[in-house]
Amino acid sequence: MSSSLHHTLWHGADYNPEQWLETPQVWEDDLRLMNAAHMSSATIGIFSWTMLEPREGEFDFSWMERVFETLAQNGQKIVLATPSGAKPHWMARQYPEIRRVVPERGRQAQQARHNHCPTSPVYRAKVAQINGELARRFGKHEALLAWHLSNEYSGECGCDLCFGAFRDWLRKRYDNDLDKLNRLYWSRFWSHSYSDWDEIDFIDKGVHALGLDWRRFMTHQTTDFMLHELAALRPHSKAPATTNMMGDFTGLDYAAMAPHLDFISWDAYPQWGKGGTGDDDIQTACWSAFHHDFFRALKRQPFWLMECSPGQTNWRDVSKLKAPGVHRLSAWQTVAHGGDAVMYFQWRQSRGSSEKFHAAVVSHEGSEKTRMFGEIAQLGAELEALGEVAGSQTEAPIALVYDFENLWAIANEQGPRNTNKSTQKTALDFYAPLWKGGYGVDVVDSTVDFSSYKLVVAPMLYMLKPQVAERLTEFVRAGGTLVTTYWSGLADEHDLCFLGGFPGPLREVLGLWVEETDTLHAHQTNRIQVGDSQLGLGGEFEARDYCDLVHPESARVLATYACDFYAGRAALTVNDFGAGQAYYVASRNESSFQSEFLTALVHKLELKPAIEADLPTGVVAQKRVRQGREWVWVLNFCGQTQSWTTREEGFEKFEKGEWHALQSGQQHTLPSSGVAILRRSK
Ligand code: GAL
Repeated sequence: MSSSLHHTLWHGADYNPEQWLETPQVWEDDLRLMNAAHMSSATIGIFSWTMLEPREGEFDFSWMERVFETLAQNGQKIVLATPSGAKPHWMARQYPEIRRVVPERGRQAQQARHNHCPTSPVYRAKVAQINGELARRFGKHEALLAWHLSNEYSGECGCDLCFGAFRDWLRKRYDNDLDKLNRLYWSRFWSHSYSDWDEIDFIDKGVHALGLDWRRFMTHQTTDFMLHELAALRPHSKAPATTNMMGDFTGLDYAAMAPHLDFISWDAYPQWGKGGTGDDDIQTACWSAFHHDFFRALKRQPFWLMECSPGQTNWRDVSKLKAPGVHRLSAWQTVAHGGDAVMYFQWRQSRGSSEKFHAAVVSHEGSEKTRMFGEIAQLGAELEALGEVAGSQTEAPIALVYDFENLWAIANEQGPRNTNKSTQKTALDFYAPLWKGGYGVDVVDSTVDFSSYKLVVAPMLYMLKPQVAERLTEFVRAGGTLVTTYWSGLADEHDLCFLGGFPGPLREVLGLWVEETDTLHAHQTNRIQVGDSQLGLGGEFEARDYCDLVHPESARVLATYACDFYAGRAALTVNDFGAGQAYYVASRNESSFQSEFLTALVHKLELKPAIEADLPTGVVAQKRVRQGREWVWVLNFCGQTQSWTTREEGFEKFEKGEWHALQSGQQHTLPSSGVAILRRSK
């Protein structure tokens, strides 16, 4: 990440003063309130196109110039967005081709946002022009902190331009060889062979490789559009650039986009308070942690939280208020996982239109007297005081593989189980015990270099992209520990099944092959009986959904099924391979299995948690490090006051703006939603 970004832990918000041009008092209040809330940045211009170019070719940057001047004088840095996320009406009317075509091939009406065609040369020209104008005026401004490219790129367009570009992309991918494409698409099936590239103009979900390629292409085309946006800025500005990605969104392969960005940012809208019990908030915290670890791992660098809501959203069926302390807790959780910024959607509630009831730092009431403003201001002061954390890193000895192309392939395949495939839930189930234990985890794409990890957990790795099996095998041979599961190693990157026994090229390292996979109805269960003295693991666990019938070759059996005609057969195995070990979890087991198994494994591997401490359920720790200094956050998500103790020496604790020595072995109290911030120099 560029060093200019490391001055502080940024505290900012999406700021739309152009909605208040006629009320100078609001502009004045905003400046005062930003300082009161310890805001160090503001993100402007995201959906401002018509205010910058009200009619074709007529530009007006005067209000934005004023924003730059006033914020700079007021002490805030600016994150400047390109406005491509919402196209003007005049443009949509004049150039219908810029409007996205939905997959059934209907041209969308001009409405809402996030709906442009990523291929349209007209739209690209318009975007390049407005971006160039913005960069020429503001690209070297001392207040400019970063570029925010568009907003939440997403979606797909099925217009002729996009299909033309898709065919060109396919020609390149398949060396202009249609026979090759036909072979790899297995297209004799149902007589889907193509005799001409132009026949490829509809995404037939039955041709699995075509569906996958379409998604890959949409990532390619969106990335290309993003780079086109960036290219228009670069002649005038070197400021670092990001785009705000989304949690739970798997429509674009973020791992493919990440290398093109200077730093990663994402928008998090966790559902705090959903069930009103601590347990639900622990799950929500786990979901947030998983995404933080995913977005940080995209570049293995600190990331920004570009958006979060200071309170209720307006797009869920039901939106709870953020209870006192929850915002602070969730903000420090972000920092603890490698976040260098906590920013809001939005600074001030709009008076009208779609998001008028979405929470903001400044509500319709308009002053600093609200509860949330008070909490945000307090957090802002704390972030300011702990600026030393900015730029520090996360040490992750564990990789959890969460590969979007694999998710697409599983979603697309029609197999023995076409419901409740639950890929994300499964990933979270394997992630949760590692997170609860306070271990550093990188949530990664399957193509990363595994050599720096001690443990790689790859649940449901159905698709093995080129070299992935080889690299996992090498990782184990060199002493690493691999855990994979049922529904792994079935297909290659073209979604062609491996011949010669699943899990295909992972067969040797796992020391087994899978003959059949039983899938269970919702009312059916099996049980697995575990007995492994090496791991100290025992007992019975419930299995649901997927049960592989495995033939161990060199693998040892650590658990067997208790029921059905395959009772007594292997349900958990380990294979000693080279200097490492590879585990195969053959069935989808209840969460307590993942918890006991992975906890036993990290102990066996002697991995170090963030802090050696007795932490009650729902209290978790995370660590960041830089040059002999470490910071640890102890975060209480369980909804009750808790006490905890550490066995480690030398920590100081941050309290009321100061650092105080922390006694090891002494009990500390953490209120509900409390956060203890510790540091130590080694
Ligand atoms: C985000 C979007 C923002 C705002 C927010 C509301 O997805 O980027 O512009 O709409 O949701 O929660």
